[in-house]
Amino acid sequence: MKLWKGRFSKASTSSADEFNASIQFDQKMYKEDITGSIAHAKMLGKQGIIPQEDVDLIIKTLGEILEDIEAGKVEFTIEAEDIHMNIETVLTQRIGDVGKKLHTARSRNDQVNVDIRLYMKKETSAIDTLLAELLEALAKLAKEHQDTVMPGYTHLQRAQPVTLAYHLLAYYQMFSRDKERFADCLTRIDRLPLGSGALAGTTYNTDRDFLAEELGFASVLPNGMDAVADRDFAIEFINCCAITMMHLSRFCEELINWSSVEFSFIEMDDAYSTGSSIMPQKKNPDMAELIRGKSGRVYGDLMSLLTICKGLPLAYNKDLQEDKEPIFDAADTLKASIGIFTEMILTMHVRKEKMESAAKYGYMNATDAADYLVAKGIPFRDCHEIIGKIVLHCINKGIAIEEMTMDEFKSFSDKFDEDIYEKIAIRSCIEAKKSKGSTSFESVKQQLADIESK
Ligand code: ARG
Repeated sequence: MKLWKGRFSKASTSSADEFNASIQFDQKMYKEDITGSIAHAKMLGKQGIIPQEDVDLIIKTLGEILEDIEAGKVEFTIEAEDIHMNIETVLTQRIGDVGKKLHTARSRNDQVNVDIRLYMKKETSAIDTLLAELLEALAKLAKEHQDTVMPGYTHLQRAQPVTLAYHLLAYYQMFSRDKERFADCLTRIDRLPLGSGALAGTTYNTDRDFLAEELGFASVLPNGMDAVADRDFAIEFINCCAITMMHLSRFCEELINWSSVEFSFIEMDDAYSTGSSIMPQKKNPDMAELIRGKSGRVYGDLMSLLTICKGLPLAYNKDLQEDKEPIFDAADTLKASIGIFTEMILTMHVRKEKMESAAKYGYMNATDAADYLVAKGIPFRDCHEIIGKIVLHCINKGIAIEEMTMDEFKSFSDKFDEDIYEKIAIRSCIEAKKSKGSTSFESVKQQLADIESK
């Protein structure tokens, strides 16, 4: 039976009911809906809007309904449309007229908005915990790999030697910004829409500050029309999810490359790899590929909600019912991705020797060789030119710069001395970096200490 049937002279068709309903997906918010209703009932009682004994019965019954839902004993129906009316219907079935008083001074428009916010507060906190675990894993790995030398890339070409710790700490920074971003987003999720009614407020002497306190919201939204129509907080939330997925995806792309025979820098644990149905030799980094792929679907969620809200007149419109699936999907996808990603990196095998030997080739010490000549008084541009010629010479001979004889060095510049060999050894190149936030062993140690002291 429809809770809004009064004005209608005939029932909607079952196809329209089916199309209109959101219970298939918004039942995810059953707990938040009940929490919101309990707070609302308390407020109605406290303000003398409905009798306290009715409030007590409503709250007791809502508690029982919650238990029954969790025990799988409540059957939701398409006819009752959404989670809000499904729960109200069950309440009314159980306690009759008293149940019908619950919706006094409330609309589904403010109800759904408070439910989503409560749901997203919970999700934001779960994501925050997962990100903290990921950061911890990255710090742990970075600590272990302070002496693991590898090529640093630009344009995916070998550029300068770095340590794996340095590379991992770059991701540490990216994910800690994500964590900050969610915390900032939370400040806008954490505002109470309940009590706004359908759009214009209500005629009852309600207490929205009490509702905010009961439900743990930091403040009350100051304009009811904005409160029921706003989904900015959800767009921001999905944006935070999308950016985090983008970071995961960049890292996954690297891990996929590093797992190839061509790189051979790492090997994923068997427990996080899959085989091929036809090629017996295959071991594929599917988890990383899936996370990379799933970043696309979270971007889709973001585009969906932005587009749903585009051009919507104030205040509530049914279009907004379409907000839930993108919100749920973005949160679920991100949580699953961070979880599996953290397990995957903690179990992967790092081939230190392969990384280090890759760092030996590719003339990655060329900049350091140029800096060597700068120290001997030659202007940097000229040094660049001289070393460029040396690199070309070495490429033609198929040798590394440090494999040249002293005579060869001297033929390019008489400023070269025996100490050049020491200066352009890989570890010296890393060690020699002096700027704050560099790959030097000392700086990485400092970066780790700074993280730990936070
Ligand atoms: N299921 C609806 C939604 O998710 C609840 C709000 C419906 N409000 C309304 N006036 N039809 O948006």
